Amino acid sequence: MSQLIKELPWDSNHFKVKIGRYLPTTIADPDQEKSFRQEFFAGKFDCVYAMLDASDVHSREAAARNQFFLGDIRMSYALTKKDWFPKEPQRRQGTIPAEIRFLNPDNAEQVAQVKVLSRDLSVVSRFHFDERFRPYVADMYEIWAGNFIKPKTPTDLPVKTVIALKNGWVAGFIGNKIVEEEKDGQKVRHGEVVLVATHSDFRGQGFGRAMSEKSIDWCFEQGAEFVTVDTQGNNYQASRLYESVGFRLQDMKLIYHVWKQYGFNK
Ligand SMILES: CC(C)(COP(=O)(O)OP(=O)(O)OC[C@H]1O[C@@H](n2cnc3c(N)ncnc32)[C@H](O)[C@@H]1OP(=O)(O)O)[C@@H](O)C(=O)NCCC(=O)NCCS
Repeated sequence: MSQLIKELPWDSNHFKVKIGRYLPTTIADPDQEKSFRQEFFAGKFDCVYAMLDASDVHSREAAARNQFFLGDIRMSYALTKKDWFPKEPQRRQGTIPAEIRFLNPDNAEQVAQVKVLSRDLSVVSRFHFDERFRPYVADMYEIWAGNFIKPKTPTDLPVKTVIALKNGWVAGFIGNKIVEEEKDGQKVRHGEVVLVATHSDFRGQGFGRAMSEKSIDWCFEQGAEFVTVDTQGNNYQASRLYESVGFRLQDMKLIYHVWKQYGFNK
């Protein structure tokens, strides 16, 4: 029998309960549902994340019947190089009251400001909406941001954080990284936009758009063939921002937290 659940040691350690991820994107039929349940209890998991195809009827039925906790609808966007044609008059860089530039990872003060912003960003995540995770989520985002800016395990692949500086303060940031995959024996690169935030005092003034433009330019300069970004289904500002710079929706997944107390035990 193939393994359906993978343990997530980092998450387990951070949230202090045993966490795993259900690997398939559907619960295709009653047999698979039974196997999921068996592995869940055999592995003594407290919580398993399941990212399920929104269009699959049996998955939705299994999730509802077993009372899985719906944490998020993940919207996955992509922008291909051929569709990246920012027209000069529409560009925000240079037209907004902030300086858009790359973060210097050795600038301790600016790194600290990015970390504060990343804590604020945590409120839009599925971990914040699930009260069992909520006490740990701001710390998790701060750790992510810190690790992102200065990776603990050095990587050869480029990583870059774009910031919006307003009167010397970091008013927004976007984390970008390059990922490489083997495709038909060739290494193919794409960019991933992973953390995006504008300080609440400065939203709606074009900072997000200007930072996005610089981020996308950078990804394509690094040889990316396309750039991806994910956001939450209820995050309309983020969706509109991404669509306004050219990203297009590729996929939607229902993300469930399958808790021992509330899920299969019911
Ligand atoms: C999403 C976010 C980064 C947008 O940043 P921003 O600096 O306000 O964005 P901009 O001012 O550049 O706006 C860009 C586009 O976003 C959309 N937008 C911005 N504010 C909006 C609002 N209040 N309501 C609806 N759409 C909005 C608009 O389409 C806008 O394009 P336009 O200026 O051509 O109309 C910001 O709202 C934020 O930090 N939110 C909290 C954290 C977050 O959700 N991060 C994304 C997680 S994936």
